[in-house]
Amino acid sequence: MSWWQRAVIYQVYPRSFQDTNGDGVGDLEGIRRRLPYLKSLGVDALWLSPFYKSPMKDFGYDVADYCDVDPVFGTLQDFDRLLEEAHALGLKVLVDLVPNHTSSEHPWFLESRASRNSPKRDWYIWKDPAPDGGPPNNWQSFFGGPAWTLDEATGQYYLHLFLPEQPDLNWRNPEVREAIKEVMRFWLRRGVDGFRVDVLWLLGKDPLFRDEPGSPLWRPGLPDRARHEHLYTEDQPETYAYVREMRQVLDEFSEPGRERVMVGEIYLPLPRLVRYYAAGCHLPFNFSLVTEGLSDWRPENLARIVETYEGLLSRWDWPNWVLGNHDQPRLASRLGEPQARVAAMLLFTLRGTPTWYYGDELALPNGLIPPEKVQDPAALRQRDREPTAYHTLGRDPERTPMPWDASPYGGFSTVEPWLPLNPDYRTRNVAAQEKDPRSMLHLVKRLIALRKDPDLLYGAYRTYRAREGVYAYLRGEGWLVALNLTEKEKALELPRGGRVVLSTHLDREERVGERLFLRPDEGVAVRLD
Ligand code: NOJ
Repeated sequence: MSWWQRAVIYQVYPRSFQDTNGDGVGDLEGIRRRLPYLKSLGVDALWLSPFYKSPMKDFGYDVADYCDVDPVFGTLQDFDRLLEEAHALGLKVLVDLVPNHTSSEHPWFLESRASRNSPKRDWYIWKDPAPDGGPPNNWQSFFGGPAWTLDEATGQYYLHLFLPEQPDLNWRNPEVREAIKEVMRFWLRRGVDGFRVDVLWLLGKDPLFRDEPGSPLWRPGLPDRARHEHLYTEDQPETYAYVREMRQVLDEFSEPGRERVMVGEIYLPLPRLVRYYAAGCHLPFNFSLVTEGLSDWRPENLARIVETYEGLLSRWDWPNWVLGNHDQPRLASRLGEPQARVAAMLLFTLRGTPTWYYGDELALPNGLIPPEKVQDPAALRQRDREPTAYHTLGRDPERTPMPWDASPYGGFSTVEPWLPLNPDYRTRNVAAQEKDPRSMLHLVKRLIALRKDPDLLYGAYRTYRAREGVYAYLRGEGWLVALNLTEKEKALELPRGGRVVLSTHLDREERVGERLFLRPDEGVAVRLD
């Protein structure tokens, strides 16, 4: 088994973790200073969202220089120091790779747009206008509106699946692929342990640029992108070859015991997701709990998701699970804290590598963002379309600063942070939860430690019961995990007696006979005799 199969990955959103230079925005030095916290949590690897030079139109997912650190986050030396100290503590570091698009201020794009004859013209995706002068086809951007913007000076449209300030690279061009692979080598030489690859499933585009067919699911109010079935902008056959090429770069730098890994951001139904394993991605993010589980939090549904996924994996594929990230509403706001605790027990006791989003260990709720404080470009674009509700949209609520203590800016900064802290930060913060032995923080630590048990790491998954509000499963020979997804008391017949080793209420460790009682909102891990 490799390190990334045993690991718990922790996602840090650098803007919101720890500010050290007093500008209200987190930085690399802040992450370095908080390494002891991460070590004490017990996580094994950090994934850092982008900290590269960027105009910050999409908060770093618009990269203007792949090989430098944005001054707001620090310097390359800060990064090297962070990496060195993380490694000294036994923590791996994955960095974000954003290969689908650059910033419109990246020198490659400036050169590309300079003229139709530019040697880099073909590094991006340029097309003539449609006969009526409009966009070349009906492709829509993820952030609303057409995925094409006209460059007046050269009379052609360029493609951007996200903001107009995020033009898509042309992956069909071998020079582009080589340039991105050089970026990977730059960070691998510095010592990173791998990459989380942004929108991996979007790299390939239909060479015929066909219109996408209308989606039967679309109705007014849904985002523009939902108008169509994405036959031509997602999961194209070429993408598997691109993944393979990237994997080869990782392998150039891998040694036994020190594999460099690729975690891929891929939002696809499970049968299509698992094809990315065969293409060479170590961990294609499995978002099924986020996209299908949290909205239908019943045992039957969860068991269906887990069994479907387990059933699709070949024996070479290693599972992985996710409950949240910087693009998704907070776990605690989706389920409430009691069930967020149950969800944490699920995540850390399923078979496969879990990825945990910063702050979820405090049951951090969605932030409340006043209209004048909205930052997320997706929400701002929405504002221009539907002026009323825009501050409730977007991704700011899940990006609020980490509350470390009860001091004026939560120990995150000495000045007003770029996004407001959680309204309850004076009571919901790391220091307070460290002191409370029943806090979610302590539960997460216990779960991460528990997961090191070989049966929980490697043991087979089998559904034991999934009905009437109770989801229970076996792991390996020795463990039974029983989750009460309701607010009512429940009982469960066990195959044999055992010992409750951990309860999500953190208040019992005791022997059980063949009948297990579960209190409302309680999950337990039972070591069977
Ligand atoms: C996915 C990232 O997670 C998201 O935050 C970003 O806006 C888009 N990719 C575009 O890079």
